[in-house]
Amino acid sequence: MLEPKELANKNFLSSSDMSTQEVLHVLELSKKIKSKDIKIEFDNKVLGLIFDKSSTRTRVSFQVAMSRLGGSTIDLNPSTSQIGRGEPIKDTARVLSRYCDVIAIRTYNQLDLEEYAKWSSKPVINALTDLEHPCQALADFLTIQEEFNGFNEVVLTFIGDGNNIANSLILCGALLGVQVRIACPKGYEPNSLVVKKANEIYKNKKLLTITNDIHSAVSGANVVYTDVWSSMGEENQKKKKDQDFIGFTVNDEIVKRADKDAIILHCLPAYRSKEITDEVIESKNSRVFEQAENRMHVQQSLLSCLLSK
Ligand code: CP
Ligand code: NVA
Repeated sequence: MLEPKELANKNFLSSSDMSTQEVLHVLELSKKIKSKDIKIEFDNKVLGLIFDKSSTRTRVSFQVAMSRLGGSTIDLNPSTSQIGRGEPIKDTARVLSRYCDVIAIRTYNQLDLEEYAKWSSKPVINALTDLEHPCQALADFLTIQEEFNGFNEVVLTFIGDGNNIANSLILCGALLGVQVRIACPKGYEPNSLVVKKANEIYKNKKLLTITNDIHSAVSGANVVYTDVWSSMGEENQKKKKDQDFIGFTVNDEIVKRADKDAIILHCLPAYRSKEITDEVIESKNSRVFEQAENRMHVQQSLLSCLLSK
């Protein structure tokens, strides 16, 4: 088993920043934290949170995770700090990394996140960008691992926009050797560099499928996952996307084509009767609230790895 210190002081900007071993280690530690088989405490560590976009789960799960580790958080509101007035990232990052021990950032452009990481002397965590949501993917694969006792033969089908969620699922799925199928309308395919990287990680084992055919993608799937059609920052595209995504709602008819024991995942927030029906999200096979809870356990695990000496 990997030593926790191998992740110490590293950034987590993309799902592909971790090796397979490191992902497995974070998941294993998350399970121990969740079952209270292990108690990790740090002395007064501080996590700085910068949210350029809204958040419920990510913000609160990071705050609770940090407090359970014996540390604290500072939530920097861009509109009441100098961040919103345009202070250069390189200045903010150098200042914050003298006050904080680790920084989690939710922003639009992945390049801005990378700029923070470049100038910060403390680890930087991606709390969602337009390109990726790697903390979410860790929680998703913990939920899958708990359900199926591992990843062997698991088929994960994501139905919807080839967005940040899809990109991180693709990369983390590749690291774990999970078969990932993405079903999206034409023009909404996942990032091509992400797909290329995932295929390299899979060593061309052809475990990744990108298709516009929702029926073939969901056939026999063990996990059916969806996300909003219009992500944060895409509010002005909502009308067009609502049209373009017709036929991509996860409803009973779609779920029936998956494996009979398939679980339903959604990162939340969800828009019922758009990307998912109320019946499906409230069904007995839905694991969306276990998945949301797991955000806290994986982030506690992640923070304890990044902060370990
Ligand atoms: N899933 C997720 O990241 O939720 P929030 O936007 O509420 O943080
Ligand atoms: N794709 C969504 C995920 C929200 C957690 C968004 O970026 O808004």
